[in-house]
Amino acid sequence: MQLQLCTWQEVEAYLEGSTGIVIPIGSTEQHGPTGFIGTDALCPELIARGLGERLDAMVAPTIATGMAQHHLGFAGTVTLRPSTLMAVVQDTVNSLARHGFDRFFFLNGHGGNIATVSAAFSEIYAESSLGTAGHNRPSLRCRLQNWWDCEAVKRISEKRFGDAEGSHAAASEISLTYYGYPEDGARVAGAELSPKRAPKGTFYDAEDYRRRFPDGRIGSDPSLATAKIGKELYDAAVGDIATKYQDFLADS
Ligand code: NI
Repeated sequence: MQLQLCTWQEVEAYLEGSTGIVIPIGSTEQHGPTGFIGTDALCPELIARGLGERLDAMVAPTIATGMAQHHLGFAGTVTLRPSTLMAVVQDTVNSLARHGFDRFFFLNGHGGNIATVSAAFSEIYAESSLGTAGHNRPSLRCRLQNWWDCEAVKRISEKRFGDAEGSHAAASEISLTYYGYPEDGARVAGAELSPKRAPKGTFYDAEDYRRRFPDGRIGSDPSLATAKIGKELYDAAVGDIATKYQDFLADS
């Protein structure tokens, strides 16, 4: 069930059976010459919708803008400061908690969000631990699950791409978006990649990133990405993450 396509009465009825919700969270940032700007938001959104269908789970609107300051050297990238993203996460959770949701499963598509979203969870817990939210609210639990961080997905990535997976504009995430958006994938897939395998390394701010990684990729060869592999990754991710979501809800 997608929250955006429900009426408020349907949300009330859902809450009688479950207080869990899946919240896709991503980023709006360059993904090299062959990847969409929306890759990190589109991947968790696709998988979250699959979870929604499989489990009858409520799926919140995607938080499509994340912490991506280091990608600002490339056209189209939008970032939230860490403090802004923390506020977005906290306000989203607190709004939904008011209606009775108390298990928040953030399905993440962007490594750069991890530190900030984890800090936002600590702020949320601190509100109840310190008593500032009152003691009349049920205790909330938040989980951050990176979509690529499950065994079945890692197996496919390793088998299909090995070291060519890379760490940004990675072959797996690009495959998944080509599966979700085949026409747009066909439009961008043939762009030239030079060198074929991007350099590896660390980075600091946006200018530094652009200097080290001129076309935006880190360590990847996304010319290996295909919609067919994307479908394998999708099925694997929905299967594994469905179990993780159910375990999260069942944990007492
Ligand atoms: Ni990405």
